[in-house]
Amino acid sequence: MRTILNLQCVDSSVNLDPRAKIEGIIGPRDVDKARGNQTSAEINMIYRWHSTISKKDEDWLTDHMSMICPDMKIGHLTLEDMRAGMRRHAAIPPADPGRRVFAGLERNNDGYFRDEDIVQILTEATDEVAMSFGPRRVPLALKVIEVMSIEQGRQWGVASLNETRRFFGMKPHTSFTDIHPDPDVAAALEVLYEDVENVELYAGTILEEPTVPMTPGSGLCAGTTATRAVVSHALSLIRGDRFYTVDYTPHHLTAFGFNAASSEYSIDGGGVMYKLLMRVFPEYYRGNSIYAHYPLTTPLEMRRRQKSLGHEADFTYEKLRYDSPPTVITDYKMILRILRDQTLYTTAWTHTLRQLEYQPHVLLGHTIAAIKQQDIIRQAILGPEESVDIFAHFLNLKTTQLVQNNSKWLFKVAEIDAIKDVAARSWTQFAACLFNIPINDSQDSTASFDDKQLFSKMIAVFHFVHLDNNPAKSAALRRDAIAASDEMSKEVRIVSEGMKASPAVQFPDPRKRRHAKRNLMPDHGAKVMQRLFDNGAKVKEVVSLVVILAVDLVVFSTFAVSLEVASCIRPC
Ligand code: HEM
Repeated sequence: MRTILNLQCVDSSVNLDPRAKIEGIIGPRDVDKARGNQTSAEINMIYRWHSTISKKDEDWLTDHMSMICPDMKIGHLTLEDMRAGMRRHAAIPPADPGRRVFAGLERNNDGYFRDEDIVQILTEATDEVAMSFGPRRVPLALKVIEVMSIEQGRQWGVASLNETRRFFGMKPHTSFTDIHPDPDVAAALEVLYEDVENVELYAGTILEEPTVPMTPGSGLCAGTTATRAVVSHALSLIRGDRFYTVDYTPHHLTAFGFNAASSEYSIDGGGVMYKLLMRVFPEYYRGNSIYAHYPLTTPLEMRRRQKSLGHEADFTYEKLRYDSPPTVITDYKMILRILRDQTLYTTAWTHTLRQLEYQPHVLLGHTIAAIKQQDIIRQAILGPEESVDIFAHFLNLKTTQLVQNNSKWLFKVAEIDAIKDVAARSWTQFAACLFNIPINDSQDSTASFDDKQLFSKMIAVFHFVHLDNNPAKSAALRRDAIAASDEMSKEVRIVSEGMKASPAVQFPDPRKRRHAKRNLMPDHGAKVMQRLFDNGAKVKEVVSLVVILAVDLVVFSTFAVSLEVASCIRPC
């Protein structure tokens, strides 16, 4: 629907929500849901968008017709010719549908089609441009099929063009030029139908003047009757369907199924076709592939549109290629071999870090730059002081405080969430002090987030950077990680720009003065930043290092604690 209404070209979340309240359109009550999703014979006529097939499909059809009727000229074929040709060439399909083939595809021994063949058909269809609506646009090879459609409409006794318009409350056409202003087209209609009321639905919808493209509003650009019918058809079909409406609940679908199927309006405006494509072909569709997110528009056009919206970098526009699924290594020797061979095996998070615009060498392989950066970071963190003891003291104290403050008494037993309330928070507070990340606590209430909020932002970044292994979830992970990393980076940037402007551990900024009041590790974070600057790092580099190192430190450490806790739990 968003493609049909050209909503992909604007930053709009307008969508077709089958479960929305629709009052005041058909009476004061909410429009009924789940009434059944029958369609009409008229929509069968209106939906035959034969003029819109691509050039490639037209060529295929012309070849096909020439193959089945070799002695006839395309365009002069009669129904009888075509039927006779088809009878001559129709191979009787195997009774078992699982053995039937089409489009020249071959089945594997297991009966399946090859993924690469299906993916190729899908991507070629996305790459091909559709033709348009309007008179004299139906390919010649489909002429005889149009005759079949007109005859079918007569047999069924479908409504005429004007009857359909009246049904929809649209103004009926009063003249042939009303249907199409081209005098030749209007004259041809007049010769064939004499009275405008006689114009049949099929011929009428094909010939009706197409609407002009509008952004937003009109992308399909069919005639007004077809556009009205198609939008109405789409809405009533899904609103009438119990699976999309009254039964669309976690109770019926399970919480997992409900979430897996649901739309997220910040991703593709709510479209979920990408989930289907990525789940079925995870080895082909990358999490940010434009072929999955917008399969109904050509990647070239979609790139232009995303560029104008400032989102060009959010997608990859590359053709799909096979990426083998990850191999899980459990053999110790093999793990060592892989870790040592940094040329053949690169880190899995290189591409996710790049998407967050972080490029710390230290996390991107065993290069000379990485080793150099590792040294700089080690020196910056440890410094000349006895830092390790100070760190241990800090964590010890924080952990004790958190255990005391968060224990809840249930009768005579103290209960505590050791991971959420202790491990995550103590490591977050530690990383905040270690790297000078302002957090909102009893000493500083000016920071934008407290330790719990900072931890959830870190989790969002960590998930995307290290666990982006399910393409269908990638876009959501990426969106959340970018939001979280932007917020963290903004805070760290303010602090590090201040440090850069007034070096030495003087704190002209009230935010930093308050920060300094902490008794434990009072100015350690400032010193770490200072040392990074002293080693020639720029503000951008410091921000990116601080954020990504803090994220990994906190999440990996919390995870390690959770493993320890789990191993301590014994069944009673
Ligand atoms: C190479 C492309 C196509 C060919 C060769 C083709 C051919 C046909 C044929 C032979 C029929 C049956 C006609 C009859 O018995 O009355 C038909 C029906 C139909 N076509 Fe197409 N078509 C093509 C593309 C399309 C496209 C792109 C659309 C819409 C997006 C479309 C929508 C329909 C519909 C809705 C019907 C009626 C189906 C029914 O009654 O079950 N077709 N088409």
